[in-house]
Amino acid sequence: MPILDGDNVPTLEVSELNVRYGAVHAVRGVNLSVKAGEVVVVLGSNGAGKSSSLRAITGLTPSTGTVVWGGKDISSLRSFQRARLGIALVPEGRRVFAPLSVEENLELGAYGAGGAERRRRIAEVYELFPRLGERKKSLSGYLSGGEQQMLAFGRALAARPQLILMDEPSMGLAPSVVDIVMDSVKAIAQTGLGILMVEQNVTAALEVADRAAIIERGKVVAEDEAQNLREQPAVLKALLGSLATD
Ligand SMILES: Nc1ncnc2c1ncn2[C@@H]1O[C@H](COP(=O)(O)OP(=O)(O)O)[C@@H](O)[C@H]1O
Ligand SMILES: [Mg+2]
Repeated sequence: MPILDGDNVPTLEVSELNVRYGAVHAVRGVNLSVKAGEVVVVLGSNGAGKSSSLRAITGLTPSTGTVVWGGKDISSLRSFQRARLGIALVPEGRRVFAPLSVEENLELGAYGAGGAERRRRIAEVYELFPRLGERKKSLSGYLSGGEQQMLAFGRALAARPQLILMDEPSMGLAPSVVDIVMDSVKAIAQTGLGILMVEQNVTAALEVADRAAIIERGKVVAEDEAQNLREQPAVLKALLGSLATD
């Protein structure tokens, strides 16, 4: 992957984000920021409001509050406009287009780029995930869960985003595959992209995170450097309550 110029990659600043579904107040005043090259992880149990937060940031779910990207308030922009500004979502359950091949999925990700540029981007995805290169002609529906997660990540990368939001990338994957996905998250952040990841897999997420926030019932209840949480398992355990760390 080409190294982005960190100075030119915008920062994401989310303030007072609220999401309501009728009477359900799913996200309650969440504040978050992600800088270029940074991996920020939001930990929380099922139903805590993680997906709602990510979907609100991408404009897929209506919300109130402000989302500032590169100093510009994008709160009123539609999701496709936010995507054009370089914000990509890798959704929960890694929805790849099952009837399309691996390569066709990646071509969709690079949609809008000219032929040579599109091929270059796809080649870079194969470099990051050699397994996808080996299976480029396979129909995506026949891939393993881990391969589908790599493909969903690769498809997002092929759009050349500057910020990637990832919704529980480790869900349902074998530990060895979780390691591959998390290593790739780290590698991508090192090229200068910001990554905001939500996870229930505390241990795997903290290994690659720079900062972590803990969300409970729609509210951020704690925030710290990931290193502090890695080094103080007792503190982490107390903060997480019911979320398992082992
Ligand atoms: N489309 C929806 N309509 C009504 N309630 C929803 C909808 N999506 C999510 N919720 C509710 O909002 C809360 C947060 O959900 P979600 O953001 O999916 O949590 P998480 O991703 O942390 O598991 C939950 O109580 C969930 O039931
Ligand atoms: Mg979710």
